[in-house]
Amino acid sequence: MEFQRVEEKPRHFNHFYPAIAAVIGVEAEGRVNFMPAVWNVGLSFDPPLFGVSVSPKRFTHGLLEAASAFSVTFHPYEQAERVQRLGSVSGCEVDKVAAFGLEVVRGRALDVPLLGGFYAAYELEKTAAWPAGDHTLFVGRLRGVWEDPAAFTAEALDPARVRALLYFGRYRYGYPASETRVLGKR
Ligand SMILES: Cc1cc2nc3c(=O)[nH]c(=O)nc-3n(C[C@H](O)[C@H](O)[C@H](O)COP(=O)(O)O)c2cc1C
Repeated sequence: MEFQRVEEKPRHFNHFYPAIAAVIGVEAEGRVNFMPAVWNVGLSFDPPLFGVSVSPKRFTHGLLEAASAFSVTFHPYEQAERVQRLGSVSGCEVDKVAAFGLEVVRGRALDVPLLGGFYAAYELEKTAAWPAGDHTLFVGRLRGVWEDPAAFTAEALDPARVRALLYFGRYRYGYPASETRVLGKR
């Protein structure tokens, strides 16, 4: 076991990976844009709050500041290359929707764009933007949830039906094991 004392930055900061690589969708200032975000997190059940941590360097950041709502979509492993592509160019240089021929689904509860091809998605009303070091944690309240019924059992995502897209850092992608075990009940 190695130990590293941290004064400023750790050597790696990906020990909490693998994690789901979701995609943020936002529209503002006449632009629709999508970017992958692995720093995404559920924050509260009641009210249902979900957050994404976004660097001010991202074009998405400015759009999220201007918008009152955004989407987060969850995609299968088979779409890893598309997700990686969305994370390797910026909307400030490229109209990703036109350049990549992206399918844009319109929100039902909110006026937000969602990247097509998801097995689940959230429509989120922006409720807060908290500075967090060199990122901003944008918090959204769920106003709409999309679920592909073929992907879920009555209780949870079935990994035998959908391979969730996991990010391991440094451009590495994978998916979870195809089995889950139920170890408790409430
Ligand atoms: C899998 C993956 C996950 C990422 N997660 C985040 C994240 O959570 N927060 C962030 O600020 N950038 C993240 N990025 C980087 C942005 O997605 C990337 O810089 C993107 O090109 C920004 O696009 P934009 O300038 O159009 O907003 C991630 C990139 C990849 C490939």
